[in-house]
Amino acid sequence: MSIRTEDELAALKRIGRIVADCLRFMGSKLEPGMTTRELDDLGRDFLLDHGARSAPELVYEFPGATCISVNHEVAHGIPGERRIQAGDLVNIDVSAELDGFFGDTGGSFIVPPETKIKRRLCDATRRALDAAIRQATAGAPVNRIGKTIESEARAGGYTVIRNLGSHGVGRALHEEPKFIAGFYDPKDKRILKDGMVITIEPFLSTGASYVEDTGDGWTLATSSRYFSAQYEHSMVITKGQPIILTLPS
Ligand code: CO
Ligand code: CO
Repeated sequence: MSIRTEDELAALKRIGRIVADCLRFMGSKLEPGMTTRELDDLGRDFLLDHGARSAPELVYEFPGATCISVNHEVAHGIPGERRIQAGDLVNIDVSAELDGFFGDTGGSFIVPPETKIKRRLCDATRRALDAAIRQATAGAPVNRIGKTIESEARAGGYTVIRNLGSHGVGRALHEEPKFIAGFYDPKDKRILKDGMVITIEPFLSTGASYVEDTGDGWTLATSSRYFSAQYEHSMVITKGQPIILTLPS
């Protein structure tokens, strides 16, 4: 969507804050021994307590309120009986709807003890998100986002997951502009416009370039040799720096 009124901005900020607070809350509750379903239930309750509805359930009939992807799983992991273990790299993606507006955020967490490999990967992915946000101004080509993510990834010695991308958000969980690549795509001629609402969500990996279906209908994963991380914000494009919608309170 493209924002036209202050009311729309306020509504997007409301749901953005709820998903951001939910993500932070779930991250704080991560503990070895708990199942990913127990973690997801905490997230569902948080969303319900704030009047929001899980977007994956609402839009895609996803079997969980949030997506929880562990280790070589990268995205759309189904909450279930899997038990979190010390050292796991856990990605939590929270998206939800309130009053017809959607917010989408995500982040990767390392369950202690950390290893250098996982810490460096997470730090590099966060840097890629921050760098891409700085480049996302009205009038800039959409493919500058992927160009920036790719160059940050390369600088750290990482690959980009090429078949997962950023996207428009706002009145729906996924809307125009659809699939914003995490790499430089010279064929993408789209331009970022003032008021446009998008996510930016780099997926960096220690070596994988593609995720594949795992056979459960949802979970996308790489070979178990690799780790991947993702951080995601929803934002409004402006002539200056984007307005980040998914900031915790
Ligand atoms: Co997301
Ligand atoms: Co997203």
